[in-house]
Amino acid sequence: MRRLVVGIVAAAEFAACGGEERAPAPATGAASAVVAQAAPGAQADDDTAPPGDADRGKKLVLRFECNRCHDGTGFAAAAQDRHCVRCHQDILAGRFSAPADTLARWRGNLVTLREVPSLVSIGAIAKRAWIERFLIDPRDVRPHLASTMPRLAITRAEAHDVAAYLTRDAHPAPPVSLAGADPARGRALVETRGCGGCHELSGAAPLPGADQRPAAFAPDPRTQVALAPDLRFTRDRLGPAELVRWLLDPKAQKPDTVMPSLGLTPAEARDVAAYLITAPLAPEAPRPHAPRLPLLARRVSFEEVELRVLRKTCRHCHSEPDYALGDGGPGNSGGLGFAPRGLNLGSYGGVAAGSLDDHGERRSVFTPQPNGASRLVGSLLARQDEEAGRPDPNVRGMPLGLPAVTPEELQIVESWVAQGRPQ
Ligand code: HEC
Ligand code: HEC
Ligand code: HEC
Ligand code: HEC
Repeated sequence: MRRLVVGIVAAAEFAACGGEERAPAPATGAASAVVAQAAPGAQADDDTAPPGDADRGKKLVLRFECNRCHDGTGFAAAAQDRHCVRCHQDILAGRFSAPADTLARWRGNLVTLREVPSLVSIGAIAKRAWIERFLIDPRDVRPHLASTMPRLAITRAEAHDVAAYLTRDAHPAPPVSLAGADPARGRALVETRGCGGCHELSGAAPLPGADQRPAAFAPDPRTQVALAPDLRFTRDRLGPAELVRWLLDPKAQKPDTVMPSLGLTPAEARDVAAYLITAPLAPEAPRPHAPRLPLLARRVSFEEVELRVLRKTCRHCHSEPDYALGDGGPGNSGGLGFAPRGLNLGSYGGVAAGSLDDHGERRSVFTPQPNGASRLVGSLLARQDEEAGRPDPNVRGMPLGLPAVTPEELQIVESWVAQGRPQ
């Protein structure tokens, strides 16, 4: 990885996803004992549809290279020089051989893809139907995790098969009745057992404990907080019986989980489940779209574009073919199920050479698209749309699965393009 030394940039800004506004929540109806009678398995609209073909799903997991980010795919982790998370973790943990000063500089720049949920026993915390939807239309589930699941070029039928494969060992929990469970007591337990030290429950009154993050749960508090899902999605992800089972003993369901067992009794677990399932949640506030700043009057050089945007993020997937030991990254040589686009954002000439269309012909990334923006600027705007919860069906947001560029960075790119792309 000597060549990565060229990629050194000024300290990356931390731009976390999920900075959504949280609306105040209506109070929980006192002891309203709203009841969800659990059927074994899941709710009617969900996992009752016939599963897809798990064998085909397994082959697809290999083709989409899920093991470049996730553990628990059923395949060995990708080699260090291709693993988007492991390599970063190795650098952060000092397991990567490079000069100390280089390592220190890299560490300062590594913000994203430091941790990612494992897919071990994923069926214990998410229904098959939820996984299927998520693969087609990923959304931000973890408010303290900068990266999101990338929007892959996956079809509905493929997602159906992959979800069947990922949940192949899942088994329904024994039926549980939430009759008589008390959501108000559940809320009190959520407050006193420190769930808020890791989790958010957006749309409800804020969970206490956020102020105790991240010190409360050493030894690796950052990971625990980063991997904790927003509990507003739990009612969609899990059936009541599976939820109670999880709350009673997370590690029994998912051996590598960082969620500790919080010593809830069965009755307490039912109260908490009743709260998580029935708590009134304010509708998800539409996340404000990042503002689009006016073009700059001053001159913008390629060097500035490179330093502020391309080198900081894009180059890690769109590099010179030899930058990452022969692999130009998924946005250049292909990968993660994408065909090679041949787009090298590592140099002026590379950007000017454009990308490959679906027939392998070169095309410019500066040609205006139907929405008025060039392919380059349009891809950056599309990522802002995705973060605002409005993915563009025709344009994949860039940087893929990573925090959108800031309005100031977009302004630099747009101004440079408008100025005729000076060198
Ligand atoms: C061989 C090790 C290695 C692999 C494999 C690797 N990276 Fe990195 N990555 C690095 C290093 C080193 C840096 C910091 C470089 C710097 O400071 O210039 C980095 C930085 C980044 C950054 C910019 C900093 C940040 O945190 O946002 C992004 C984005 C990134 N990598 C994405 C990826 C993606 C996506 C993959 C998989 C396709 C990947 N990386 C695979 C070593 C690696
Ligand atoms: C570039 C890295 C990357 C790749 C490649 C990737 N994922 Fe993910 N995936 C993520 C991240 C990051 C998250 C966490 C998103 C969140 O919580 O908001 C995630 C979340 C998930 C989840 C939800 C897990 C949970 O506990 O909430 C599933 C399921 C999943 N990915 C499946 C897949 C499958 C299947 C593939 C291959 C087809 C794949 N991923 C490829 C990064 C990746
Ligand atoms: C130390 C951090 C931590 C604490 C404290 C914690 N959790 Fe978790 N929890 C997690 C993580 C991380 C996950 C994701 C599981 C995984 O992928 O390993 C999780 C998963 C869950 C899930 C699975 C459903 C979903 O939507 O993903 C539920 C439900 C849940 N937690 C509820 C709770 C409740 C209720 C409490 C308090 C009684 C609590 N958690 C305390 C870290 C924590
Ligand atoms: C995690 C890897 C990754 C990162 C980071 C990334 N890209 Fe991409 N990019 C891809 C992949 C994969 C494709 C191909 C997508 C497809 O074929 O639909 C692509 C396609 C594109 C395209 C469209 C090319 C075409 O002709 O269709 C543009 C433009 C683009 N990227 C720009 C950027 C910019 C600018 C950045 C940095 C802000 C960036 N990308 C960061 C992986 C990445």
